[in-house]
Amino acid sequence: MTQFVGILTAGGDSPGLNAAIRGVGKAAIGAYGMQIIGFRDGFRGLMQDRTIRLTGAELSGILTVGGTILGTSRDKPHKMPVGDQTMDMTSVMLETYHKHHLDALVCLGGGGTQKNAYHLSQNGMNVITLPKTIDNDVSGTDMTFGFDTALGIATEAIDRLHSTAHSHHRIIVVELMGHNAGWLALGAGIAGGADVILLPEIPYDINVVAEALRQRQRRGSGFSIVAVSEGAMSQEDAEALAKVAADRAAAKEEKDEKKRERAKAKLEKLNLTMQDKTLRLSRRLEELTGLESRVTILGHLQRGGTPSAADRLLATRLGAACADLIHQGTFGVMVAARGDGAEPVPLADVVGKVKLVPPGHPWIKTARDIGVCLGDRL
Ligand code: F6P
Repeated sequence: MTQFVGILTAGGDSPGLNAAIRGVGKAAIGAYGMQIIGFRDGFRGLMQDRTIRLTGAELSGILTVGGTILGTSRDKPHKMPVGDQTMDMTSVMLETYHKHHLDALVCLGGGGTQKNAYHLSQNGMNVITLPKTIDNDVSGTDMTFGFDTALGIATEAIDRLHSTAHSHHRIIVVELMGHNAGWLALGAGIAGGADVILLPEIPYDINVVAEALRQRQRRGSGFSIVAVSEGAMSQEDAEALAKVAADRAAAKEEKDEKKRERAKAKLEKLNLTMQDKTLRLSRRLEELTGLESRVTILGHLQRGGTPSAADRLLATRLGAACADLIHQGTFGVMVAARGDGAEPVPLADVVGKVKLVPPGHPWIKTARDIGVCLGDRL
């Protein structure tokens, strides 16, 4: 009997999504004769029943295309913006799922999508997911697709910044994406030869960073590249944030609504001041070193365009493995990359976790071994 498979992409787009859609589709249609229905714009398309039939024709020519042919959104099934409110639309999505006689729903996304997909699987859908994000922070998988492409783009940017920093004897502070994880900044920082790499996992001491730059200057290198992750923060900001989080937790425990509101207001204020933390970092480094400093924020450039060969390969093999698992009836899992292969990991073990760079990770040791300053006092 023909099996019907729905597929959607959710969260921030990332290179390799189309390669994954193609991988799932080609294997599902070619090997198992399944029919594929794409939902547009993430969970919103599932709610609104906006579909596109994916046959061989639609899957052709998309391997090298960036973004997602299905469109995406950050909407959550149980908190869907409807007018000026947010509503739980899970039951509406379940209706769409049954209307199309779906045997499975494939959700391609990062940490948030894994959580939302798990929610749907607990509400009666046969869900299976694939891990994508340039942040590489999804728990349970060796790697996410999108990361390698972003790593290449960010590394090339750092390469290019070197010659201009060198010519002007400047500091260039380059901000990289990664949300609360430092994989992208650490990987591109090492590959691009940054002199300082600042990660969310290691709050920095501005004096340590300035001293490293002054030391370079004393040794005859009047320019420096500082690769900073968007989630990186100073030790003072990290302490202030930890304090507010502790206050919020205590207020919740004590069921003290006023205290909770106060902590929430403090957090909002802190988040506001942290919005320009990379600019502040650059200004402070100028003050402390006497060198001129410039900021480059790479932003969404890191997510756009053609996926790398490694990402195409990863997305295709996870996509094909996904079709096998649907055929076997394995659901409620994420198809994780494991070595050269793929394996199903229960979504229950994936959600609510973020894969940060562990303090003892070999890349951290490598960076320190080659003299990169990570902003902490050793
Ligand atoms: O999760 C991918 C990511 O690019 C993060 O690195 C970044 O913090 C975030 O998405 C940006 O989100 P948006 O595209 O909604 O601005």
